[in-house]
Amino acid sequence: LIEAVGAREILDSRGNPTVEVEVLLDDGIVQRAAVPSGASTGAFEAYELRDGDRSRYAGKGVRKAVEAVIDELGPSIEGVEASEQRVIDEILIEVDGTENKSRVGANAILGVSLAVAKAAADSADLPLFRYLGGPNAYLLPVPLFNVINGGSHADNGIDMQEFFLAPIGADTFSDALRWGTEVYHVLKGELKAAGFATGLGDEGGFAPDLPSNREGLEFLVKAIEKAGFTPGTDIALGLDAAATEFYENGIYRLDDKDWDAASLTDYYVGLVDDFPIVTIEDALAEDDWDGWKGLTEKLGSQIQLVGDDLFVTNPERLQKGIDLGVANSLLVKVNQIGTLSETLDAINLAHRSGYTTMLSHRSGETEDTTIADLVVAVNSGQIKSGAPARSERVAKYNQLLRIEEELGDAAVFAGRSAFPRFKG
Ligand code: PGA
Ligand code: ZN
Repeated sequence: LIEAVGAREILDSRGNPTVEVEVLLDDGIVQRAAVPSGASTGAFEAYELRDGDRSRYAGKGVRKAVEAVIDELGPSIEGVEASEQRVIDEILIEVDGTENKSRVGANAILGVSLAVAKAAADSADLPLFRYLGGPNAYLLPVPLFNVINGGSHADNGIDMQEFFLAPIGADTFSDALRWGTEVYHVLKGELKAAGFATGLGDEGGFAPDLPSNREGLEFLVKAIEKAGFTPGTDIALGLDAAATEFYENGIYRLDDKDWDAASLTDYYVGLVDDFPIVTIEDALAEDDWDGWKGLTEKLGSQIQLVGDDLFVTNPERLQKGIDLGVANSLLVKVNQIGTLSETLDAINLAHRSGYTTMLSHRSGETEDTTIADLVVAVNSGQIKSGAPARSERVAKYNQLLRIEEELGDAAVFAGRSAFPRFKG
């Protein structure tokens, strides 16, 4: 039974305050969870409550959310069995009482929801992935390493936000981690030799001032080859355009040119022809449903088209996408929707509808590794947690190494099969 719930304000990887929640059970178990925070957030995400008090952290403090945990959310679930996750999440949603969790904040709610799950797992003496996924949790994900950072994650001129390495040809997760890391280091040398800066962006990838997005992909191919791997077969590529960030009044502004959805779609078709791209996320903007439909018709059978800002881990928005034939993959961010149960609902809906899923960190992260357990629990097969560098990114990959070890012979690496639409 839940005995007490506490909370505090801690810092995330960008030096911004965030919520950490601690749950105490009557058997003495204590577990904590910390909440991540995005920069290129979707307009339809659950609400992140910040104090707005300019005298602290430029208004970004989360004391109100912390107080809501201590004064309202915690007391509302005291005495409830910690394993009753769905009941607890429903209580939390009810206490808030708003559609988008804006009264007490999705950051307050999510912290409680995740800390409860961790405490329940610990109390059952199970690893979190096993507690959440049961005996059929066995699939280790392909890690998508964001090794070049642009958009709103870096102060360079690259319009697209994320450039991924996807080591689909590895036999194990630990090999995939090594492959990606080796290419990451070679990439640094290549960028340096070409006269580009090798400082890091928010997700641990390099943030060079490349003249075009295409150039970023060329650097990745070069680095993969130089590290001794075959582009496409061993290591494929991916993009998160985060297109909402360069979309205004129906116009996309990319590489210093104006595009409409159709011409931008043709641009993507060209990239897919020229590079071994397995996945593109948010290729178009979050409310450009018509554009998305055209994009999916053109590219949906060849590659994975992921909806992030488009779906915001929200089962209702995902259902709309399914009905319209838009995208074929769901990006999963626990803080976009705000409870573990709703996250699992979105994942189940995606899988039932033939959509793949990719578990995701946020650009503002903490040492919390819940998503590493979650990705195995639901056999998603894909995770993005940034570059193989910076501890808040690597924490998730390291946790997956532990899970791989724990699973032993039962572990299966998703590899190519995680991308059923990849024709590369
Ligand atoms: P965010 O970016 O965490 O800054 O929203 C991640 C993404 O767009 O996938
Ligand atoms: Zn995204």
